[in-house]
Amino acid sequence: MTEQLKINGATFELNRYPLRNNDPLRAWDAADEYILHHLFDNQLLDSEQRVLIVNDSFGALSVPLSQFSPDIFGDSYISQQSIQQNNLHNIGDTHTASFIDSTEKLDAVYDVVIFKLPKNQALLEDQLYRIKKHITAETIIIAAGMVKTVHRSTLQLFESIIGPTTTSLARKKARLVLSHVDTALMGDTTPYPKSYQLDDYNITVVNHANVFSRQKLDIGTRFFLENMPSNSNAKDVVDLGCGNGLLGVVYALKNPGTQLKFIDESYMAVASARTNYEHALDTCDNGEKGSAEFFVTDCLTDIETNSIDLILNNPPFHQNTAVGDHVAWQMFTESKKVLRNNGELWVIGNRHLGYHTKLKRLFGNCETVASNQKFVLLKARKRFSHH
Ligand SMILES: C[S@@+](CC[C@H](N)C(=O)[O-])C[C@H]1O[C@@H](n2cnc3c(N)ncnc32)[C@H](O)[C@@H]1O
Repeated sequence: MTEQLKINGATFELNRYPLRNNDPLRAWDAADEYILHHLFDNQLLDSEQRVLIVNDSFGALSVPLSQFSPDIFGDSYISQQSIQQNNLHNIGDTHTASFIDSTEKLDAVYDVVIFKLPKNQALLEDQLYRIKKHITAETIIIAAGMVKTVHRSTLQLFESIIGPTTTSLARKKARLVLSHVDTALMGDTTPYPKSYQLDDYNITVVNHANVFSRQKLDIGTRFFLENMPSNSNAKDVVDLGCGNGLLGVVYALKNPGTQLKFIDESYMAVASARTNYEHALDTCDNGEKGSAEFFVTDCLTDIETNSIDLILNNPPFHQNTAVGDHVAWQMFTESKKVLRNNGELWVIGNRHLGYHTKLKRLFGNCETVASNQKFVLLKARKRFSHH
C-alpha cells in the first residue's frame, strides 16, 4: 500500500515491490523512522561524507537519504529493485542509489555506516567483518532494529567486531545501536562462507552467511532429496528459490546431461549454489556433464514461457520479516507459465501449509509423490487444455 513517510519536512511515497493488490504491509517500520529522525535531528550527515546504508528493505532509508549519495549494501534483489523504484518515484532518477551486493567487495572508506539490523545474525556478523576494513576510528556506526531483532548476541557482535556499543531507549518498539570503532579490533576477517559435509551424497555444502539452513540440511529438503527422480526425461530443469542449490545439484548428479537453471533473490544463495554445483559436478563422473546457469532475480521473471520441463521448489514462507505465502503463490503461478506442456512442478512443504489446494486450483491436478508425518512432496503437471 502506498503510504507517506514524513521525515525532516519532506514527504516520501514508498511502496513494497513487486507491487501486489491490497498489500497489507507498509514499506518501512518504526526502526527506519527512529534512525532517520536521529540522523536529521542530530545533524549527523553532511554532503562531504561517504555514507553506506546496509540492509535497507524497500528504500525507506535510501530514498530520504538520497541527497547524501549513499552506497547501498545488501543481499536481496527484491530490496534492490524496491530501492530503485522508490527512488525513481520520489527523486526522479536512480544515480543516487549505487547498490553493492553482499558478495561484492566494498572499496571506499566510509564516514557513516547506517545499518538496518537483519533477522539473521550470521549475515550481520559477516557484514560487520566486511565493513570494518572500510571504516576509521572516526566513522559513525549506527544501527536500528525493532526490539525483537536487538538481542544481547546482536550487541555482542558489535562489541567484539567493531568496539564499545550502547543502545538507545526504545521508541515505538524500535531501538538504536551505537558503536564506537576500536581500531585495535581491526585484524580478523569474516568466517563465512562455512561448509558442512553431506555424507549420503558425498558433497561438501558451502553456505554464505545469508543462506537458508546454512548449518545443516533442512529436513524438508532432505525428504525431497530422498525422493528425487533419476533417469528422468526432463532436460530443462529449474531449481526455484535454490538457496545453496542442493535440490538442483542432487538432481544433476542423478540425471546426467541436465540443463539446470538455479534461481534465487539472494545474492549469497546464488553464489553458494554456483560453488556447490561446480564442485559436485567437477568431482563426479556420471557421464554426460550437462550445464548450469545462475540467476539472481525475482522468481521466474527471466525465464521464457513454455521452456522448462521440471521445476524443483521448496518455497519460502516469509518475505523479510512479514509472514505470508504470497511468494509461494507467485512461484506456483509463474511456474505454470514457464513449463512446457506436460512439464511438472515439484513442491516440498510442511503439511499444514496446504500447498495441495493451491496447486490443484492452479493446475487442475496435484499428486502426492511421497509424504511422512511432517512433509508432503507434491507434483502438479501443466496441461495446455487446462486454463
Ligand atoms: C525455504 S528456502 C529453500 C532453499 C533451498 N531450495 C533448500 O531447499 O534448501 C526458500 C528460498 O527461496 C528464496 N526466495 C525468496 N523469495 C524469492 C523470490 N521472490 N524469488 C526467488 N527466490 C526467492 C529464498 O532466498 C530462499 O533461498
